[in-house]
Amino acid sequence: MNCFSAKTEDKFLKSARKRISGRDADFTFRKAVQRNNAGKLDTSIYVHIPFCESLCPYCPYNRVPLDRDLLQIYLNALEKEIKAFAFENKDVKVSSVYYGGGSPLLAGERLIGINDLIRQSFKNAGDFCIEANPNDIDENSVTLMKRAGFNSVSLGVQSFNDILLEKIGRKYDSKKAEDSLAELQKAKFGWLNADMLFALPGEDINDLRKDIGKIVSLKPDQITAYPLFTFPYTEIARFRKSTAVQSPPLLLRRKMYYEVYDSLMASGYERCSVWSFRRKNLHGRYSSVTRERYVGFGASSGSYYETCFDLNTFSVKEYVKSVEERGNATALSVKFTERMAKLYDFYWRVYDTEIPFERILDTVKYDSRKDLHVAPLTKILLFSGMAVKKNDRFILTRRGAMWVHFLQNLLSLRAISRVWGIAKRDAWPDIIRF
Ligand SMILES: C[S@@+](CC[C@H](N)C(=O)[O-])C[C@H]1O[C@@H](n2cnc3c(N)ncnc32)[C@H](O)[C@@H]1O
Ligand code: SF4
Repeated sequence: MNCFSAKTEDKFLKSARKRISGRDADFTFRKAVQRNNAGKLDTSIYVHIPFCESLCPYCPYNRVPLDRDLLQIYLNALEKEIKAFAFENKDVKVSSVYYGGGSPLLAGERLIGINDLIRQSFKNAGDFCIEANPNDIDENSVTLMKRAGFNSVSLGVQSFNDILLEKIGRKYDSKKAEDSLAELQKAKFGWLNADMLFALPGEDINDLRKDIGKIVSLKPDQITAYPLFTFPYTEIARFRKSTAVQSPPLLLRRKMYYEVYDSLMASGYERCSVWSFRRKNLHGRYSSVTRERYVGFGASSGSYYETCFDLNTFSVKEYVKSVEERGNATALSVKFTERMAKLYDFYWRVYDTEIPFERILDTVKYDSRKDLHVAPLTKILLFSGMAVKKNDRFILTRRGAMWVHFLQNLLSLRAISRVWGIAKRDAWPDIIRF
């Protein structure tokens, strides 16, 4: 991954993307004049609450230190944004609602009102899911989540190793992480996911084995294990540059990914996406962004409607001001051609690790003879042993999942980091090419 210079890699990726996506695909966010309408879509909802009690140095998300007064003002704006969208989009059917952050539980009792508003404003508001930091969990917050109607929770455990937790700036120890998980299990939510991080600074394979062994012994419904991405605009990246702390080298990372994969598969879990494993015999899955379409509310949230992707301003203060003035805070928008939409969908199905044939056939319809198309891509997957055919679908192999993991790493670091890096600095950018 580091054999080429960043410039060569960038050139190669851009040229491959152009050939695959078609010549009319334009990867440019432009300043938005208004929010796009969702039409008659079945969609999920994403709600962003950016406040955190303490800011983790590796975190790439849009988050700000907790300011209780500003939080209340922000939540008022959030309700206003939801109402304004619902007024314009009466036919939208909602399949699930996901709260991410930041630390959404800091909104406390207000979550009950926002969930009620969503239920009243849209047809069929399905599952309600929320992300939680172990420090946010106690008897009161669990009761509150129940009253608000959450039936799915993701706990950011990250690690049970006190030294590693301290190194990455988490403000709890392994005992608190374990107690919080137990508290959530006692409350019997419909689905409980635990997030773990690996390839942490200074972590070795034995540390990872212990972490995986521990989380398996606690039996959450789902375990999601991410390698630590180092986004260039985060504190940890600046720290690494100045002190030469390194993340584990590529081969060790590969070994770690296989370690996670093999130990979870051998411990009663099965893969349900590149990063996630659920307990065998359970159905369903906890996931945030792999839904077909979504409407985002809150600072920095994105909305995807197949023909376009809208992005709200990242600045909390500008978000509040803009919602007050025009009922929304859309800052940027990128148009999707039909082919881009098909490929975007294809990308998420690869991420799911299972791709139904009909999706591939549907995608191939949008091929043009001039371009490298999706059909050869699936052939490459099969011949290189990265996928196998089973019934009516392609299934990624262990090796395939590992390469998707690297591809994701590359794409996230390049595209997301570019857009988010600029959007974090400038509340209303004119244009971002990615
Ligand atoms: C929005 S974050 C955190 C939710 C909650 N605030 C917390 O800290 O537990 C959701 C998940 O993203 C993952 N994550 C955060 N920063 C990451 C990074 N730099 N690389 C990979 N995964 C990351 C973590 O596992 C985290 O639980
Ligand atoms: S990882 Fe979670 S708690 Fe830490 S800064 Fe990011 S959103 Fe906040």
